Amino acid sequence: MDTPVVELKDVSFSYGGPKVLEKVNIKVEKGDFFALIGPNGAAKTTLMKIMLGLVVPDEGEVKLFGKNVKSFRQWHKIAYVPQHGGQINLSFPATVREVVASGLFGKNRPLKGKSLEEAVKKALATVGIEHLAARLIGELSGGQRQKVLLARCLVGNPEVVFLDEPTSGVDAESQQEFYDLLDRLNKERGLTVVMITHDIGTACGIANKIGCVKGGKVDIHENTKDITEDHIAEIMGYSIKKQRTK
Ligand SMILES: Nc1ncnc2c1ncn2[C@@H]1O[C@H](COP(=O)(O)OP(=O)(O)O)[C@@H](O)[C@H]1O
Ligand SMILES: [Mg+2]
Repeated sequence: MDTPVVELKDVSFSYGGPKVLEKVNIKVEKGDFFALIGPNGAAKTTLMKIMLGLVVPDEGEVKLFGKNVKSFRQWHKIAYVPQHGGQINLSFPATVREVVASGLFGKNRPLKGKSLEEAVKKALATVGIEHLAARLIGELSGGQRQKVLLARCLVGNPEVVFLDEPTSGVDAESQQEFYDLLDRLNKERGLTVVMITHDIGTACGIANKIGCVKGGKVDIHENTKDITEDHIAEIMGYSIKKQRTK
């Protein structure tokens, strides 16, 4: 078995008050589609930040590609789209092409000129928005903007993407399209996906591993075929908004 992409061992964390995560163990393998679900405030975002070394746990061990996150340096393998798209400034007059190209800033293998252009073109084509390349980011619909953020995160050819509620504020049809796209990237290219979502139907439909975050604990369900959405909804304490589509 390959080295896990992400490994958390007995991770605990508090923001100063009670623990928001307690002795959490998670392994994300190469090629996994790992969905994290749970009520608001359950610490899903915190957990993702811990995986990325952005929040340091009080106890436990965090590894990325087998290396302790503190000394991990291969950040080009990783892409992250924070909750609310990292609050991109929509009034800033940047084109889609520029926003996607900015996904390469700070990477340790900078691209220039033609190869930069090619990389951006490829990323736009992957998510099917070549026709939007010259448009301003502020003019786009929520669904189109999500695709731009995905293209921005794919432009550096990452091995794993971390997405924090990537479809919040996006209409149902665009949501489905977005999930289908991720499903394809995962199955056809072996892209590892770690995604926080409120959409249990989708989580059960595409993910091969589900982590239910609640009360500081994370229950991992590895055989998503065996667990029904109702079962998960019961664990999570909320019902399914959308039925599984396949
Ligand atoms: N920077 C912070 N300082 C203090 N408390 C925080 C901070 N960020 C989040 N929290 C608290 O930690 C808990 C988990 O938050 P979060 O990880 O954002 O949950 P989720 O993403 O599941 O909605 C919540 O109770 C939240 O209020
Ligand atoms: Mg969150």
